Amino acid sequence: MPALFQAFRHGKLPEGGRILAVSRQDLNDDSYREWLQERSHEVEGAKRPSDDEFARFGALLHYLRMDLSQPTDYEQLKGWLDERDADVVVMYLATSPDLFTAVCTQLGNAGLNGPKVRVVLEKPLGRDLASAQEINRVVRSVFREEQAFRIDHYLGKPSVQNLMALRFGNALFEPLWRRECIANIQITLAEGIGVGTRGDFYSRTGALRDMIQNHALQLLTMVAMEPPSRNTADAIRDEKLKVLRSLKPFTAESVARDVVRGQYRGSGNGGGSGSGGGQKVPGFLEEANVPAGSRTETFVALRTEVESWRWAGVPFYLRTGKRLANRDAQIVVTFRPTPHNIFAGVNPPNKLVIKLQPEDGLELHLLAAKGSAQGEALAPVSLDLDFDKAFAENRVGAYERLLLDVIAGRLNLFVRSDEQEEAWRWVEPILEAWQADDAGPRPYAAGTWGPAAASALVARDGAAWDEEQ
Ligand code: BG6
Repeated sequence: MPALFQAFRHGKLPEGGRILAVSRQDLNDDSYREWLQERSHEVEGAKRPSDDEFARFGALLHYLRMDLSQPTDYEQLKGWLDERDADVVVMYLATSPDLFTAVCTQLGNAGLNGPKVRVVLEKPLGRDLASAQEINRVVRSVFREEQAFRIDHYLGKPSVQNLMALRFGNALFEPLWRRECIANIQITLAEGIGVGTRGDFYSRTGALRDMIQNHALQLLTMVAMEPPSRNTADAIRDEKLKVLRSLKPFTAESVARDVVRGQYRGSGNGGGSGSGGGQKVPGFLEEANVPAGSRTETFVALRTEVESWRWAGVPFYLRTGKRLANRDAQIVVTFRPTPHNIFAGVNPPNKLVIKLQPEDGLELHLLAAKGSAQGEALAPVSLDLDFDKAFAENRVGAYERLLLDVIAGRLNLFVRSDEQEEAWRWVEPILEAWQADDAGPRPYAAGTWGPAAASALVARDGAAWDEEQ
């Protein structure tokens, strides 16, 4: 809803469009609008609607009470939609994923799956390959693939768009974008927050399913894919799929060697400094609704390779975690050192840093001569492209961008079912190896960069995580 409100504020919602909220609660248009207005105070400062703005936005909102298990309620929904006869109908399933198949089946039975209907599904789409395949089987029996919009909100982040632009709209980087010039690629999705009120969900999910299977792998495909033949959804998704299929498969031995799992400890329970932003914070096992003795991982670091001519032998390091030192999402491409150094000292290699958050932009780290004394070591300098400054007017948030794409029928930034299944196929051996391994996750103190084993993992290749360099 906040994203839809932003789209409204930016004048991007289609003329005459309506938003119909559906749930079990006994509300009507007016009481729903009141409820939402109350909630809109939770939206961060500049994005919060004024009373006047909310009054205009609220006029687009409607409410329908539905029990999603009742076929007759879908008839009612159909009646409501038929009356308006919209050109496009977007069904956003903000439900528990357990309901995806039942809801899609009912939509199909009610005839709500015609060509103008688009269905939006959000992760978690399954918890392993078999459950993801089952969801996809049912969704495909009701909707055509091009009607299904699987959201991965990381693909809507502006820097990911810029990664595409950088790679395929500029000639400069393509000749360098390969094993001959690149030493390693790191993808870090670090969060400072803990699991908060989501202890129940998170303890059943864990960082591998919550962040690696989807967000981190999607970013990896964007970095590693071959140039698509066109800027169209299937041309892009075919290339992404090829990357997922080229990922080196894990075995029990390589999981033990190349994957580190961790779980945060709070301050005051023997888990180290555990500062988590300077305050005392609970460890994962003390969070509300986390079962005693849970072995769920809140941190994962891993090393993989893309087995292709372009990337053979180049390590890709992925890392994510809760209660880490900073909220920091970035992709770091480290180039190989110069083949022959004529300057004093050891010079760090060039790096391209694609920053996703908290701020987004690109930094190219180079070396320059300060120009004062001869024989002096080179100094690090960086070209800093601050997109927020350059394009402030046109910047839109990830969800706003993605929702507008659904309305416009643009599938480029949505995940196709075969991509999603391939990602599960790759992740499964890790889940299985962990299941069979009694060691459990390694503890790390809240407010740090995770277990020391994560540093050792990259140090083996002579590399270091960006913050350690
Ligand atoms: C979600 C995960 O998909 O992404 C959350 O379920 C996580 O656990 C969130 O906090 C992170 O998204 P962002 O955009 O805040 O980095």
